Amino acid sequence: MEKIKIILRPYYYWLKHRYDLYRNFYTDLKIFKKYALVFNVNSLHHKEADLILNYHSLEKGMLFKDMKKGFAAYRIINLHKILEDSTLQRNITRSQIRVGYEVMCKYYELHSNKNWDISDFYTLEQYKAYKKILGASYSCEFSGVYDFTREAFYANINFSNFERFAYSRKSIRDFTGEKIEEDILRKVIQLANTAPSVCNRQASNVYLVEEKKKIDSLLEIQGGFVGYTEHVEQLLILTNNREYYYTIGERNQFYIDGGIYLMNLLYALHFYKVANCPANWGKEAKDDKAVSQIVAIPESEKIICMIPIGICKDEFRTTLSLRRDSWENFKKLK
Ligand SMILES: Cc1cc2nc3c(=O)[nH]c(=O)nc-3n(C[C@H](O)[C@H](O)[C@H](O)COP(=O)(O)O)c2cc1C
Repeated sequence: MEKIKIILRPYYYWLKHRYDLYRNFYTDLKIFKKYALVFNVNSLHHKEADLILNYHSLEKGMLFKDMKKGFAAYRIINLHKILEDSTLQRNITRSQIRVGYEVMCKYYELHSNKNWDISDFYTLEQYKAYKKILGASYSCEFSGVYDFTREAFYANINFSNFERFAYSRKSIRDFTGEKIEEDILRKVIQLANTAPSVCNRQASNVYLVEEKKKIDSLLEIQGGFVGYTEHVEQLLILTNNREYYYTIGERNQFYIDGGIYLMNLLYALHFYKVANCPANWGKEAKDDKAVSQIVAIPESEKIICMIPIGICKDEFRTTLSLRRDSWENFKKLK
């Protein structure tokens, strides 16, 4: 009997691993379907996420000094619908909801200061209503962007003061077009490699793309960098290698380790004064396939993020990207 058990054991595990994999992915699928914004817009969190998605697009539009009249009008139309929701209005003390109304007011003011008529999609009455909802929180000083000089931006990169360092990092989307030397990039990666990983497996890889045509094609697939690609001459692609994960429980570990590495990489880039902006790779299989036709990334590796890098201009803008207050996301469990 013992002998049969020993012979059958590999077959048992062969079957069990496959069954467990499907069962776990199926459970993930069901839970994702039940809660993700893509299928539901019912809860406060869904509504807040929808609001952030749309208002952040306006912030990004505000980065351009020669602003276009009526930019991102479809976002404004979305936001009117989102902002009339009474749940959001009742939760105006939440930072992301407040700043949503603030960015909307700013959008109106930027247009009225230039005497641009946008009443076909954003009326004075709507603007006044948003100001009223903001009440005492409204300030005409509010700005959806930060203006920096290069000198001021890098004044706090002394890593020994982590608090100042972390607050000083920002995503930069506007580069001079000059390339970062490979030696500096090697130092960046060496520093980023201090990231912790599960059992120290260190499954992250960083690929450098420097061919402009390829960069443009990759960012076109990426889709979230439209309007900022002109001076992107170097692109990093962060991947995490599935070959390092050995249990069904680890089926999502590459996102965790990849995410931790990404954060360390962003800090390392900032430390070496390499301007950068992570570019989302929340994509489908067909997009990974399209990438593989442009650059040779092994199939075993999951793309975690693309990161356009460069040197920032002497003066530049970043989005405000207001952060939550800690009461919103620090909760004591009973
Ligand atoms: C994983 C990830 C993906 C992102 N994707 C994009 C993107 O596609 N396009 C973009 O302009 N910014 C992108 N960002 C930048 C965020 O908008 C930015 O990090 C956020 O607004 C906070 O601002 P800060 O980085 O300046 O502090 C991404 C950030 C992360 C972490």
